[in-house]
Amino acid sequence: MHISLTNPDHHPQAPIQLPRRILHGGDYSPEQWNPDVWRRDMELLREAGCNTLTVGIFAWAALEPEEGRYDFSVLDSILDLLHGNGFHAILATPTAAPPLWMGKAYPEIRMVDVDSIRFSPGDRVHTCPTSPVYREKTAAIDRELARRYARHPAVVMWHIGNEFCFHCYCDLCRAAFRTWLRNRYGSLDNLNRAWWTAFWGQTFSSWDQVEPPGHKRMISMEGLFTDWHRFMTDQTADFIRMEIATVKAFNPDLPATTNLMSFHRQFDYRVFARELDVVSYDAYPAYHDRPNNVETAVEQAFVYDMMRSLKHRPWILMETSPSSANWMQIMKLKRPGVHRLTGLQAVAHGSDAVLYFQWRASRGGREKLHGAVVNHDSDPNSRVFREVAELGADLDALREVAGALQHAEVGLIYEWDSRWMMEETCGPRRDGLLSYNNTLIAHYRPFWERGMPVDIIGVDDDVSAYKVVVAPLLHLLREGVAEKLAAFVESGGVLVTTYWSGRVDASGLCFDTGYPGPLRALLGIRSEELDVLYKDEQRSVVCTAGSRFGDGTQFTARLFCDLIHAEGANVEAEYGDDFYAGRPALTRHCYGEGEAWYIGFDGGSDFLDRFYGDLADACGLRRVLEASLPVGVTACERKAPGRDIIFLMNTTREPASVTISEAGLVDLQTGEAVSGTVALSPYDVKILARPAGT
Ligand code: GLA
Ligand code: ZN
Repeated sequence: MHISLTNPDHHPQAPIQLPRRILHGGDYSPEQWNPDVWRRDMELLREAGCNTLTVGIFAWAALEPEEGRYDFSVLDSILDLLHGNGFHAILATPTAAPPLWMGKAYPEIRMVDVDSIRFSPGDRVHTCPTSPVYREKTAAIDRELARRYARHPAVVMWHIGNEFCFHCYCDLCRAAFRTWLRNRYGSLDNLNRAWWTAFWGQTFSSWDQVEPPGHKRMISMEGLFTDWHRFMTDQTADFIRMEIATVKAFNPDLPATTNLMSFHRQFDYRVFARELDVVSYDAYPAYHDRPNNVETAVEQAFVYDMMRSLKHRPWILMETSPSSANWMQIMKLKRPGVHRLTGLQAVAHGSDAVLYFQWRASRGGREKLHGAVVNHDSDPNSRVFREVAELGADLDALREVAGALQHAEVGLIYEWDSRWMMEETCGPRRDGLLSYNNTLIAHYRPFWERGMPVDIIGVDDDVSAYKVVVAPLLHLLREGVAEKLAAFVESGGVLVTTYWSGRVDASGLCFDTGYPGPLRALLGIRSEELDVLYKDEQRSVVCTAGSRFGDGTQFTARLFCDLIHAEGANVEAEYGDDFYAGRPALTRHCYGEGEAWYIGFDGGSDFLDRFYGDLADACGLRRVLEASLPVGVTACERKAPGRDIIFLMNTTREPASVTISEAGLVDLQTGEAVSGTVALSPYDVKILARPAGT
């Protein structure tokens, strides 16, 4: 049985067909094993409660041992074997690792690094996204694969390449960059103005003087840096688009994905997501390297919500380790129970899969020590195998969740170009304490603590359905963004933004109309200067009479104190000391039907928890579970047909208890009613069901 979701981006009419179950399994390299092992793996898959293998990722050398000579015998057998056993296959294009003969014969397919050194043949993810030869070779193998397997009954999805993660600095890419810039700016005059090249006399007098940003050159232009990242994103997305178009020519209904990587800095994933039918993501959370796992859980939840929000649809956890990862500093084992927690956490945040790197551990090669479901001795009598099988039973019981959506009343804006620009700009502090990611996670956490869903969105997303939009450190403002946010607030929305927002335009030029630039009228403030504190300094922030938080309530400011003037905004709190005592620190501007908040200081988690708790009450934000949740315990909800499924998760290594104040919940597995106080063991997850509409 299949579910269909309409994909509005790619093929307006084409449904995405995914099996109506949670996919469970992992990466598999049958070309490393003999048929006896394949058959044994089919038995083990069943025993582990698995149903899916991802095959072909690094199989190009086996599929095309010499130029133009193809050998599909292994894939033929394994796909038939999977189908015969009732399992699914995610079929990868092998283009992340070209065969050695190809790298030797066609040097141009190999990337050039930032120091202008061309990669040698060998290894993986080192190919140029621009090279016409690589595109031709890629299209050829993709065509062969698609002709043969695009309608194979085992195959449920295409997996394009693997973890696109680097930039290429070869001459072909440099030339393509110049063309991209010509299209963007039209003339060298425009480019010189946008990048303010007169500074340090860096004016371009011909296009061929433009080079990518490098370690030792062009460091004076943040616009160049940001545009290079935009270009590399577009160029790589174009390569992905080419691969997807090639394989989909043989079956437009077979969905395609590529596996993304967390807060990856090199590419804007929102651009990639437009090319994909389904977003997939590789997660390697280190749940074990901190005394308290809650930070890891919050960060993971943030990224999962980002993956879900890239297409506002369920996504696929394409890789995670069932035990340890050998590239980590320390190959710490997952503590008992952590595996179930991490797998279910992904599903709770919208994943329709828990897939591993890897199903079977390789005997040699760089990842022979990496965690796998099946270890070198093939013995299922292991803790890891048992925990995988236990999770398999949970996932089987969760079939109805596949395809189920989630609804958030809060949209939190994460923008790659704001991050690039901020990180490349010299100032306002260079000690690592201005972190875009950490700041956004800190603003997300109060909602996570309360079990309130959040979408992680971009400025191009439709914001009209949210009650609250949170946009911390919205440093760079593309054209039209301020107007869009103003329209949102005018019609009743609540906007929250912070210091360091509204500073520069799309190419990095500081606004000359007073900060926060085009947001000034909406926020009803002017930011005059920003005081940056040493890391051990603090300032007091005191709430004013009539403040939502009560007259005299105090908060502590660290790291940043924005010195602003109210220009129509209500001052909710002001600084209590230093030369700016009495100046506004927190403002609220009533604008149309809504309100726009400006947080001028870094108040840390104490302030944010209080601030967003109050805001959530004022806006009537819904919690997915009527319960008061202790620190580190949270709840997520997926709306399955006919009922809501609620995941109540204890992310701490201590027991916890939750008092539920709503009636009508049942435990998904036992069917027993759940109410009152629920005890959660360390890392426990309770899966509850509530009839829809209650
Ligand atoms: C990445 C890759 C995999 C494997 C794992 C190891 O996610 O995609 O091929 O190398 O890392 O953790
Ligand atoms: Zn290149």
